Amino acid sequence: MEADRSGARQPVRFDPRQAARLDDPARFAYLPPAGLFFLLDAPQDAVVIDFGTGTGAYAIRLAKARPDLTVIALDEQPRMLRLLQAKLAAGSAPNVRPFRADNRGLAALRACAARILALNVLHELGDDAVKRIAALLTARGRVLFVDWNGAVERPVGPPRQHVYTPAGAVGRLKRLGFKILRKRIFRYHYALVCGAGREVRAASALPLRSSSSRRPSPRTS
Ligand SMILES: C[S@@+](CC[C@H](N)C(=O)[O-])C[C@H]1O[C@@H](n2cnc3c(N)ncnc32)[C@H](O)[C@@H]1O
Repeated sequence: MEADRSGARQPVRFDPRQAARLDDPARFAYLPPAGLFFLLDAPQDAVVIDFGTGTGAYAIRLAKARPDLTVIALDEQPRMLRLLQAKLAAGSAPNVRPFRADNRGLAALRACAARILALNVLHELGDDAVKRIAALLTARGRVLFVDWNGAVERPVGPPRQHVYTPAGAVGRLKRLGFKILRKRIFRYHYALVCGAGREVRAASALPLRSSSSRRPSPRTS
């Protein structure tokens, strides 16, 4: 287990050599973007963070479906962000902003997102990283956690012991200070719409951001 992943089910970081799997079009059949975006329920003109965006497969879909949104595509691995930037080079989704999830980047995003999508990342995140998500939300903001379901047999995705069952995810998120507002089960995934209690927002180790900008500029390096 990597030290900063305490609490995660998957013991190591996502391997960028597996990035092509994220762009498998079959994903959109068993996890339909429209179903996720309905649950996300982003307000008009909102800032949405895709936390752990990878190659931005769903971030780009969201940005195209909702050109009114600013979609901040956040990842901790520069290699993943470079793959995303290559996709964005053609200019087809100008409202996607790739963003590096280091301490400085996260501080700049404090309290800026009305919605956060965290897709296939809960099993990878340590407890501190999950709590930091709460600090990125506006006062009435919501997080949509969607992840592989450890309670079902699947021909795709990580081994069952590396992910949570829906009940396990609910228990973890509640323990960390999230309120579960809504739950939906997809073919291989569970989805949880969550609010964040005051304590988990305050518990974040993020420094205060120095700028009051609501729409941060891209930061990828
Ligand atoms: C399994 S991939 C999922 C990518 C994308 N959400 C999707 O479903 O297509 C997980 C991604 O989360 C990123 N990630 C893991 N921990 C992170 C953290 N603490 N902050 C930001 N990104 C993280 C990894 O680098 C990887 O790109």
